[in-house]
Amino acid sequence: MAKTKLQYLCSSCGSVHNKWAGQCGDCGEWNSLVESVFEKENNNTSPRFTGYAGKASVQNMCDIELQEEPRTPTGITELDRVLGGGMVQGSVVLMGGNPGIGKSTLLTQTLATLGEKMNALYVTGEESLQQVTLRARRLNLGDDKFQLLAETCVERVLQLAKQARPQVMVIDSIQTIYTELSQSAPGSITQVRESAAQLVRFAKQTNTALFLVGHVTKEGTLAGPRVLEHMVDTVLYFEGDSGERYRMIRAIKNRFGAVNELGLFAMTETGLKTVSNPSAIFLSRHDEPVAGSVITVTREGNRPLLIEVQALVDESHLGNPRRVTLGLDQNRLSMLLAVLHRHGGLAMYDQDVFINIVGGVRVTETAADTGMLLSILSSFRDRPLPQKLFTFGEIGLAGEIRPVPNGQERLKEAAKHGFTHAVIPKGNMPKPQDIPDDMEIIAVSRVSELLDI
Ligand code: TYD
Ligand code: MG
Repeated sequence: MAKTKLQYLCSSCGSVHNKWAGQCGDCGEWNSLVESVFEKENNNTSPRFTGYAGKASVQNMCDIELQEEPRTPTGITELDRVLGGGMVQGSVVLMGGNPGIGKSTLLTQTLATLGEKMNALYVTGEESLQQVTLRARRLNLGDDKFQLLAETCVERVLQLAKQARPQVMVIDSIQTIYTELSQSAPGSITQVRESAAQLVRFAKQTNTALFLVGHVTKEGTLAGPRVLEHMVDTVLYFEGDSGERYRMIRAIKNRFGAVNELGLFAMTETGLKTVSNPSAIFLSRHDEPVAGSVITVTREGNRPLLIEVQALVDESHLGNPRRVTLGLDQNRLSMLLAVLHRHGGLAMYDQDVFINIVGGVRVTETAADTGMLLSILSSFRDRPLPQKLFTFGEIGLAGEIRPVPNGQERLKEAAKHGFTHAVIPKGNMPKPQDIPDDMEIIAVSRVSELLDI
């Protein structure tokens, strides 16, 4: 019998420890170590040896022949965008997201378009074949586009896949897949990791493009897909709420393209549809100007996006006034309020401040600083800003307003959507010939100048 040994795996970073501890020594996460049993194998067929195809030898870099990664467009433009231009053969993509957000729907649609050109296989461990077929029919995808397999044992999946020889394969979901090499329950962190390792090895050896679906749960009872992030080439996460109409996919890691690229979809009765004009969807159309609402231009991945920042400043009856942000960093808000006090002379210590980004987008960029500040001011003074006004810029602790990258592109995007008044950092002021027609630009370099507007 194989020798077994107890070890502890961190569910956040995947590192292995010999002893249990309250905090993972590698990533610093608390309460993330879980017990797992490793069987000691004497042969090298253990899935932990995830060596890729090809014989190993030491080589010079100049001797290595480069091949263009052959990319296959998936036919879904927003998905291609986050993948970095299309699917790469032999690559492994992990798609994470909350239950019900549309992972199965999107991958069914993707396989249907890819299935027209290549051999495609959908392995389902969650739903029955009838359910998958029903969904595909409801989406009007046609019955002959891809093959189906309902199986949860990774060894049998791979055995059947070797016969079926798919060029693209979907595993829905990795949490339901188990390997016979390990005794622990399906969904446990050991099972997920070992089965994924086998699947990854299969993909690399046979040059199959592989999509793995992974669930994220708040409680972390199911092994989260985070431990898999190291193994795969691309990690895509669904953002947004499953109750909302718009779904966003963000590339967190991509060995074949840019990260932080955002793909936008709308959930309809006939599946996920790509959104062609993303800037327009995040603006709430007010009939007349309202106080506390400001348009700002952020950049998600490679493209500028118009978003609306809303602020509500209200008298506080608490000892500790509330500072609430949705879609923005809360520390950033505290910092801006301090700057506002110190360099603008406006005290907010007796005011609750709420900030929200319309449409459920999450902004990580500092270019939204001036937008945040202006919306707070507008709400505090109850004075609406002109509807055609937009702003972007970063605010520093010294009260200075700093330029942000790609200012010209942001101006152009706003002009395209009919905005005519810009409040931007002085450093982003374009040359006179580059100013879009009919655009009036106010360049600011200090917070105090911002207050005068
Ligand atoms: P699903 O892809 O099953 O989610 P996941 O695999 O991420 O758990 O999609 C779930 C939701 O999408 C479900 O609540 C129903 C909705 N939906 C539509 O609104 N329209 C559709 O055409 C489909 C297929 C699903
Ligand atoms: Mg699903």
